[in-house]
Amino acid sequence: MTEVFVANVDEIADRERRVVAEGNLEIGVFRLGDEFFAWESNCPHMGGPVCQGKVMNRVNEVLDDDKKSRGFEFVEADVHIVCPWHGYEFNLRTGMHPGEPSTRLTGFETVVRDGAVYVRV
Ligand code: FES
Repeated sequence: MTEVFVANVDEIADRERRVVAEGNLEIGVFRLGDEFFAWESNCPHMGGPVCQGKVMNRVNEVLDDDKKSRGFEFVEADVHIVCPWHGYEFNLRTGMHPGEPSTRLTGFETVVRDGAVYVRV
């Protein structure tokens, strides 16, 4: 296993990322609060560069008792990455597609040591 330097912790703001390359792999390392999550930038849909996508909260449609739409809301607890090719979304903490949990990103372990972030490949 190889440990790849990503960045100093203070160089990655909350909800920001760094994308690093190691061999044939491209890996996106995302910060959420004090935690870091690393995913291969290879979308399970058609191989798009998913880690280059937009980071946004999950959107939830609000329905009334008659199942009529009352608009949309952002879900603060669920932060997603949106693949730039066709818009598939994945939870940044779990790597899972919200509608099909078996469709998921390939993850890597992250390590924070001496003020720096590393990913284990
Ligand atoms: S390749 Fe990512 S949504 Fe199609």
